[in-house]
Amino acid sequence: MKILACTDGSEQSRKALKEAAKIAECFNGEVTVIYVEDFIPYPTEIGPYFSEEFFRQLEERNKEDSARIIADAVKIFEEQKIQVKTILKKGHPSETVSRVASEGGFEMVVIGSRGLGGLKKLLLGSVSNAVAQSIEANVLIVK
Ligand SMILES: Nc1ncnc2c1ncn2[C@@H]1O[C@H](COP(=O)(O)OP(=O)(O)O)[C@@H](O)[C@H]1O
Ligand SMILES: [Mg+2]
Repeated sequence: MKILACTDGSEQSRKALKEAAKIAECFNGEVTVIYVEDFIPYPTEIGPYFSEEFFRQLEERNKEDSARIIADAVKIFEEQKIQVKTILKKGHPSETVSRVASEGGFEMVVIGSRGLGGLKKLLLGSVSNAVAQSIEANVLIVK
């Protein structure tokens, strides 16, 4: 079974990755971890208030964060001796996860109920809500 496990580095997504590892073990699953880095608006769109240097640093920081988030996710699977592939994309998180899930022929998407942002009283975050509603594959929402 092809499983797509979604991470944003949050505690809730770590729980989701651990569930994905359990499922992969039971069903001989092939796991791919995905993290989508949000776009940063270009300086021209934002006006003259921030320097290009500022954006360069922001981009650099995002790159480091992404590498860390992916590495943390991989570790969870490696500790269980489960092979894992990784996908790092830039774009709109829920649209990108949904597109990768469909185009990649994934049979199950595992996602945290909430993530980094978030109003605790909502059952679902915006990404998990949008992904669950927009794709054909089964979605496991980890609470
Ligand atoms: N940028 C992202 N890339 C990949 N998966 C994500 C991303 N953002 C959120 N997710 C997944 O969606 C789950 C719910 O997060 P989200 O809907 O963003 O909630 P919140 O509104 O609390 O941030 C996370 O636990 C994670 O599994
Ligand atoms: Mg979020």
